[in-house]
Amino acid sequence: MTRRIETAALISGRGSNMAALLAAAEAPDYPARFRVVISDRADAAGLETARQAGVEALAIDAKAAGGRAGFEARLDAALRERGVELLCLAGFMRILSADFCSRWRALNIHPSLLPAYKGLDTHARALADGAREHGCTVHWVTPELDSGEIVAQARVPVLAGDDADRLAARVLAEEHKLYPAALREVCLAALAQRG
Ligand code: GRF
Repeated sequence: MTRRIETAALISGRGSNMAALLAAAEAPDYPARFRVVISDRADAAGLETARQAGVEALAIDAKAAGGRAGFEARLDAALRERGVELLCLAGFMRILSADFCSRWRALNIHPSLLPAYKGLDTHARALADGAREHGCTVHWVTPELDSGEIVAQARVPVLAGDDADRLAARVLAEEHKLYPAALREVCLAALAQRG
């Protein structure tokens, strides 16, 4: 039987990267299994996508949980209950505390060639700078936004006539390939280390 790393995806919205990860994990030899998808917003479209893919999906409302500490305590409990070992942030719009980051290994996907363009509006900022190349990065999550060690990157040329939407769409297509490939490598390395 294929050994797998027990994984959770954290989302806040549409969840197209999450969907790409879940699709990859359907392959019998993929080294990660998604136990649960968790959103900090009950209206995240990705929750329904996850359910349709047969993966448990739940929302933890930060306000109802009493702010960041309460939210992270509930998140921590939900992940432990399900035996999760690794997190994949995929359009998850909250910054996790240093305490939470010290307890969980987590990957994130960001739509730029980090360390360039941390934060929001990466495509518009790259275009405004006249960048000739853009792309996406999978990196380890640390308390400092978009700053953890880089795991993998994909490059996308900026084309004449690009606007932010067109560039974003081409980067997103690369994200959907890069994230499953990076997660595979991370899990294979973790399983090899386990022996
Ligand atoms: C992606 O561009 C991802 O890189 C960024 O947020 C966006 C999420 O899109 N972190 P989706 O929810 O995966 O469709």
